[in-house]
Amino acid sequence: MSDTPFTFSIPNPGFIPSRVDNHITRRLSALRGQFLDQDAYARLLDREDTLLYAVNEIKRPAAAGELLMGVSIVHPGKVGKEFFMTKGHFHTVLDTAEVYYCLRGEGFMVMETPEGHPAVERLSPGRVLYVPPRWAHRSVCTSRQEDLVTFFTYPGNAGHDYGTIEQQGFCKLVLDTEKGIAIVDNPRWRK
Ligand code: PA5
Ligand code: NI
Repeated sequence: MSDTPFTFSIPNPGFIPSRVDNHITRRLSALRGQFLDQDAYARLLDREDTLLYAVNEIKRPAAAGELLMGVSIVHPGKVGKEFFMTKGHFHTVLDTAEVYYCLRGEGFMVMETPEGHPAVERLSPGRVLYVPPRWAHRSVCTSRQEDLVTFFTYPGNAGHDYGTIEQQGFCKLVLDTEKGIAIVDNPRWRK
């Protein structure tokens, strides 16, 4: 891996970085148990293991002084009333932060601390989100047609703890209701 300064570009439209070391895709089957409406989930999965999001990473060594970067693309769609979203995670090294910069689309970042303190912030093009150390985070795409595209960067040693969220979910859900987009308590949280 290069230890000299480097540049890359994120062309608009497309938002595929000119340098990509790792391309990750996650389909519906990777979020088993995460969506509230489990019947709707089963029906959709029965039809197709839909692509929910993709991540293009620029790799760096897993060292505290390094910064990992990438672009995440969450596609529009719903499972029941719930919008497509990422798995979400705490960082394994809990005391590490992350910065997101929204490039395209509309959505939310759903966050919470290990103590269950929630926060939900809106994402729209040009908006920067700072996720402080200790906050789990999940991106949710609420646009009907457009992808939610974000650039992110976080410390090289952060790591991903997916297990905690797989077990307890997030305390807040983002739903499409008759009255519009609603942020509601997750009735299945920590059960
Ligand atoms: O580290 C991050 O927060 C991002 O790079 C995410 O990994 C990305 O948005 C995909 O989400 P997840 O890792 O929860 O599947
Ligand atoms: Ni993260």
